[in-house]
Amino acid sequence: MTTSPSPIDLPAIRRMDAHVVHPWESFDKPNASRTVLGVGDGAYVFDAKGNRLLDGPGGMWCVNAGHGQQTIVDAIHQQAAQLSYTSPWSHPTESAARLADRLAAVAPGDLDHVFYATGGSTAVDSALRFMMFYNNVLDRPEKKHIISRHDAYHGSTYLAAAVSGKSRDKSWLDTRLDTVHFISSPNPYRRPEGMSVDAFKQFLIKELEDKIQEVGPDKVGAFIAEPILASGGVIVPPPGYHAACLEICRRHDIIYISDEVVTGFGRLGHWYASEPVFDITPDIIISAKGLTSGYIPLSCVIISDRLIQAVSGDSDRGSVFSNGFTYSGHPVACAAGIANMEVFESQELLENAREVGPYMQTQLRTLSDLPIVGDIRGMGLMGCVECVVSQESREPLELDYEVGSRIDQHCQALGLLVRPLINMCVMSPPLCITREQVDEMVSILREGIVRTMEDLHKEGVTTFD
Ligand SMILES: Cc1ncc(COP(=O)(O)O)c(C=O)c1O
Repeated sequence: MTTSPSPIDLPAIRRMDAHVVHPWESFDKPNASRTVLGVGDGAYVFDAKGNRLLDGPGGMWCVNAGHGQQTIVDAIHQQAAQLSYTSPWSHPTESAARLADRLAAVAPGDLDHVFYATGGSTAVDSALRFMMFYNNVLDRPEKKHIISRHDAYHGSTYLAAAVSGKSRDKSWLDTRLDTVHFISSPNPYRRPEGMSVDAFKQFLIKELEDKIQEVGPDKVGAFIAEPILASGGVIVPPPGYHAACLEICRRHDIIYISDEVVTGFGRLGHWYASEPVFDITPDIIISAKGLTSGYIPLSCVIISDRLIQAVSGDSDRGSVFSNGFTYSGHPVACAAGIANMEVFESQELLENAREVGPYMQTQLRTLSDLPIVGDIRGMGLMGCVECVVSQESREPLELDYEVGSRIDQHCQALGLLVRPLINMCVMSPPLCITREQVDEMVSILREGIVRTMEDLHKEGVTTFD
């Protein structure tokens, strides 16, 4: 493996990159110092100068199979050469059909109808639009309200953004919809002072029931929830929370949408985490990212047979689910999806995630002795180190916007990419990561945090011993 296929002209890329509007950009202060990456290999990436970096965030929680998987590359090449595109309105393709068959087989319960979209956001929109369609067909036009949670992230199209609950993302864009309602973030670390985790769970469950009663059970159509809130800071709800929420939804005939864009495809050691990890069989699962390990965009909504049957046959009233995309079930993306599943199986990536995930959790928790570290949480190959001024106040640092980025900068110099999230460092490495690579990750992260503490100390921001 070479560290660069051809020399990278860094100044030229930086000059041309000024034309690119990156996600979450400040137009006044565009970030011109992003690291340019040239090559990926397994759990590593190489920057333009050839420096090797462990890919802590796995791209954007998506390079689950790891970089440079030739089976996926070949599948993309072969499908593009054979038939690059055909309309999903008019023609089934072998790759879309075969992938749907495999997805139906690994999805829980009777979830066996696969609607393809292009990314997490368009899949979220499609799931919510299906809920609206479903209730229209059942002649319940009022039952369209959606309940979501603070700290949730479901995407960047209007509807997906409207059901997202990260307050900092709402400052400058219109995301309001009067049919969307929020309940508390199920973050045990930020639970009210003096409340036990179990009491906190009871509070959250009662809050969902109360919100349904406030809006009206005949008006609430869907509850949308990530099993673990990913971009909100790897928030793992109290045990039993999801099952209790599902029970409430079933009682009020509310569609439970499990957004497994991040938790699916092995991040928690299973194809989908809802059933094996959280003991729920939702009505709809949303899948993206690891579905193709980020090699090419693809997402899907997997809908239960129960819901589909309810709007079929005598009940369908001549309805049509008029929702779809030019690239729904793109043959090349679906070929990548099939190859991705083959790689998972032949390289036993789910098994590796189940083995190395708990080890990563244990090793990350060794950082708790660092005074700046407030909370370390996660599950499987999803981890988060949250930094705070003092353990007592649990308030984010005054410089909280910068602390994750500061740690990331130090870590990059030492050979590790971090996903900085305000005052947090998020880790979601490729599933092929080894125990030795976890050790490397945690020791670099420790050094990056120590160096950041030293910087803050020198600047007089904190007074850690
Ligand atoms: C849980 C979840 N849902 C949906 C999305 C949106 O996915 P995309 O960025 O592919 O549109 C994301 C993106 O990070 C996500 O984390």
